[in-house]
Parts: sequence; structure tokens; C-alpha cells
Amino acid sequence: MGLEVAKAEQQREMTRLERMLCACRGQPTDRPPVWLMRQAGRYLPEYREIRARTSFLEMCRDPEIATEVSLQPYRRFGMDAVIVFSDILVPLTGLDLELTFQPGPRIENPIRSESDLDRLEGSVAEAMRPTCDALRALKTKLGNETPVIGFAGAPWTLAAYASEKKLSRDLAQLSTLSYRDPTLLDRMLERMAEITTEALRLQSEAGADVLQIFDTWAGMLSSERFQRFAGPALRRVLNALPTPRPPVIIFARGAGHLVDDLADLEPDVVSLDWRVDLEQVAGRIGQRVSLQGNLDPAALMAPAPEIARQVAQLIRAGRKARGHILNLGHGVLPTIPVEGVAAFVAAARDGAQTTP
Ligand code: CP3
Repeated sequence: MGLEVAKAEQQREMTRLERMLCACRGQPTDRPPVWLMRQAGRYLPEYREIRARTSFLEMCRDPEIATEVSLQPYRRFGMDAVIVFSDILVPLTGLDLELTFQPGPRIENPIRSESDLDRLEGSVAEAMRPTCDALRALKTKLGNETPVIGFAGAPWTLAAYASEKKLSRDLAQLSTLSYRDPTLLDRMLERMAEITTEALRLQSEAGADVLQIFDTWAGMLSSERFQRFAGPALRRVLNALPTPRPPVIIFARGAGHLVDDLADLEPDVVSLDWRVDLEQVAGRIGQRVSLQGNLDPAALMAPAPEIARQVAQLIRAGRKARGHILNLGHGVLPTIPVEGVAAFVAAARDGAQTTP
């Protein structure tokens, strides 16, 4: 794009969809788009009202409820993207895994052996149908100016949950497997990569404009072990997605030491957690990939002027990358005040013009 055209693009107010797609692809935007991981959830009174009558999984399985809950934060705050309401573990419920949320996930029959893996039969498409129906309904309701984000868990993170009844932070099963039976772990990751791919492909077909892969538990691996296990499984997913595909964002928590490995996978966007310095990372990988993040979720507890100050700092740092999407460094916590989220979105919307 010529310089003149690029300048004109920055002055015209873009649609939310254009803003989001351009930020993902590293093209000029009028301002960085903004949305929040876990923007639909328990911090919203209107979410709690539905949740009081309905279990979390039932909410995911009812397309009307999932559509309504996805729209709740957008109606209140007008973020630049709507993420479809579901969970990374929903695809596994199509495969005879007995999953409940209390409120964290619990699996009664975890996968720990070759024969457990062979047992994993069923249909991801069946499990994903309500999510895909919700996505289609969202696209119809929102029209083509607001992007809808589809998502899935990364193979490593899905394997972490699938192998434990209740996951603890040391990932005991996966860690043990990685040293005692890496071949079985490889098979497990291959199977999970198929599930991740299928879940993303279905959402893309249902109209998702952007896809996000959550590798919440990748950060516990050293770079060497990431390159041995989680990385190749992610690469498998990226290679298996039919092209042309929507832009892909990869989020990994606590993965400051893995940013080069994540950029090497060549997603469109790397989503950073709040512990890394956005400006430093932008200088390091920001010309190869766009960046998303990375306000400390707890900062939403602060008074509005402090939130605005931190957002301005992120906007400045993000300019060093080819593209920047404002977001938190992890999901909104249930205890966050609604005013904190309002202040974040307002600062993102107004801050770009006023930030020197
Ligand atoms: O971002 C959104 O608003 C879309 C919906 C969404 C949920 N979970 C809804 C949810 C998304 C994108 C997720 C992703 C997810 N789920 C991840 C990756 C992101 C991350 O947080 O690291 C993981 C690891 C899960 C698995 C999961 N689901 C856990 C660990 C928990 C319990 C933790 C908690 O917050 O209590 C859930 C439950 C869950 N997923 C809730 C919501 C709104 C709370 C359910 C309730 O209302 O009781």
C-alpha cells in the first residue's frame, strides 16, 4: 500500500471488522481495536442472571443463550469484536469424555493410556453444533461490520485437561508422560491437534472472522520442551487449516520466554500475557507478527484515570509492532467491577487520538 493511501486509511473511521482484520494482518488502522478475553462472564449481572437458572455447559449447548450471552458485553461496552460464548473443552464432550464444570473443569474418565486414546470416538462436529449455530446467528444479527471470533484450545492445553480428573498447576500427568512415554504423548497431541483443527475449521465455515487458539498451559514448558511437544502440535493445526483462512491469534499464558518460538509458528497475531513488556516484545517479533494484549486483568480494579494511563502506555508500545490489538493479558476475573471494563474500552477508543 502506498504511503498516501496508508495515511488516508488512518484518518477514515474504519468499521470494527476492517479495524480488526487490518490489525491482525499488520496493515494500518485508525486506532488499535479492543476486546477482552472472557468478556462474557460472571462479572456481568446480566450473565449471572441467566447463569442462576442454567448450568454453564447448558448455556454453551443452547444456541439462543450462547448468542445472547456473547452479545451482552458488546451491547454494554461496544468492543471491536464479539467472541462466541463456549469453552475450549466443549469439543471433547463429543468424544465420550465426561465433563462437568464446578466451576473449573472436571473429567471423570481422563485419557492416560493407548487404549483410552482408542476409546476417543465420536463427533466433534456434533459437540460444536450449538457453538456454530450461535456463530451463524451472531453473524446474522451483527451484519458484516463487526467481527466474530471463534476459538479452540491448543493441543497441549487440551491434552493437559483431558489427562487429569482435575488439573493442578504442575500438570502431573503430562509431565510424567513426557519423560516416561513421549511416544504416547506424541500420539495424544496428534489426536488433540485433529480436534483443535476440526473445531476451528467448523467455526470458520460458520462465519468466524478471526480464530484464537488458547495455549493456557504452554508457559510451563522450557523453550526446548515447547519445541519438542506443544510447538509441533500447534504447527500441525496451522498447517491443517484449509486456506484461505481467517487470521489466527495464538495466546499462551506465562510465555514471555517463548515469544520467539510462538512467532516462528507464523500465526497472524501473538497474544501476550501481562507479565511481559509489550514494547520489548514488539521490538523483537513485532515486524513478523501482530501483537495482542496485555493489560494486567487486575488493573481493571483501578480508578478510571489509572486504567487510561496504562492503556495509553500500551498504545504507545504497540505502535512498535506491525499491528496491535488491545486486550487483557488473560481473562476478565469474576470480581472485576463493570466500571473497570467500561473504562478500559473507553480509554482504548479515545486514547489513540490523544496519546502522543
Ligand atoms: O472469552 C469469552 O468470553 C468466551 C468464552 C470462553 C470461556 N472460556 C467461558 C467460560 C472462553 C474463550 C474460554 C476459554 C477457556 N476455557 C480457557 C482458555 C483461556 C484461559 O482462561 O486461560 C480455559 C483454560 C478454559 C477452561 C475453563 N473453563 C476453566 C479453567 C474454567 C473455570 C475457571 C473459572 O473462571 O471459574 C472454565 C469455566 C468458564 N469458561 C466460565 C466461563 C464464562 C465460568 C463458568 C461459570 O459461569 O460458572
